Amino acid sequence: MFLIGVNQSRGALAERAKSSQPLPKSTLGKTAPDMSSERRFALNCWYAVAWSHEVGRREPLARTLCNQKLVLWREADGGIAAIEDMCWHRLLPLSMGWLKGDEIVCRYHGLAFDGAGRCTHMPSSETANPNARVRTYPAAERHRFVWVWPGDPARADPASIPDLHWNDDPEWDGDGKTMFAKCDYRLFIDNLMDLTHETFVHATSIGNSAVAETPMTTTHDANTATVTRIMENVDAPPFWRTQLGKPGNVDRWQIIRFEAPCTIVLDVGVAPTGTGALSGDRSKGVNGRVLNTITPETDTTCMYFWSLVRSYRLRDQSLTTQLREANAKIFIEDQVVVEAQQAMMDLHPDKPLRRLDIDAGGTRARRIIDELIAREEPPR
Ligand code: FES
Ligand SMILES: [Fe+2]
Repeated sequence: MFLIGVNQSRGALAERAKSSQPLPKSTLGKTAPDMSSERRFALNCWYAVAWSHEVGRREPLARTLCNQKLVLWREADGGIAAIEDMCWHRLLPLSMGWLKGDEIVCRYHGLAFDGAGRCTHMPSSETANPNARVRTYPAAERHRFVWVWPGDPARADPASIPDLHWNDDPEWDGDGKTMFAKCDYRLFIDNLMDLTHETFVHATSIGNSAVAETPMTTTHDANTATVTRIMENVDAPPFWRTQLGKPGNVDRWQIIRFEAPCTIVLDVGVAPTGTGALSGDRSKGVNGRVLNTITPETDTTCMYFWSLVRSYRLRDQSLTTQLREANAKIFIEDQVVVEAQQAMMDLHPDKPLRRLDIDAGGTRARRIIDELIAREEPPR
């Protein structure tokens, strides 16, 4: 299913945006040698803000995206409404109110707003003031997620929604969760682009010495960066040993692809050594994709949507549940590390983040993000 907009054309959205308040800028302004911009996120991008099933017709859903407060709900035709979470009248969060048909009613004095941000009803006034409106956001649904565009609505092209098609592809099966983390979203991007941390952070599950000992290659284009690590004839870590269900050494692959601004797909798996996986035939092995999209809420908090999908033992719900819960535990190990890292960065904003060879993928991803931001800045 794919839906764009909320009862509005792109032109109408652009018109509404003109009357919106200016977008907030980063206030923290911490710098490190590899942070070329004070701003930490681009605005003219699609960001995942919820799983599709989280946006319904009974309760409004409050989310924060790029320092902006949003409220979302689902309209009768299945479309997604995404508007500013702040009443035009006295600024109460609209998410504290309730849904009535396709509209949201403010909890304080009962003004009602539709998905186009227009006030449709003012109790005690015969007609609603036509100037009473709040900002709306382009919203779209794809790959089991709801995506919102926080920047210029006229530029919201659904073709640029990042590719996470495995999430609803019948050839793949799996599930995931959301982590709400107290860190700059880019710390998770650094983390995912450098899987040598598996050896140390995830020693009891997916990590072993083979990962840290095997060099990787990094490639990129304007919008993507890819890190490839191929491990030939190595011991399988516990997680993959169980999935494969066979003893003996394996050939293992990790292909990590970053797509701007914050989506990373891990192509991971193992096969018994010498069965052809490294030359293209993975049929004797087990294939997984770890789908990650990490959305900035504020400068130092984020929503991390992830899903673990596989191309073997499809429609086995007990395996799906087991893998989802096991992976959730693994990702909490990452969260502990990056939140502690953020706390230290907050305490020591003058200290630089340093780069090693293992940081090549993350550094490239950050550079792509910085270039997106720079293109949005007025010329100096
Ligand atoms: S604050 Fe919303 S109706 Fe008054
Ligand atoms: Fe990790």
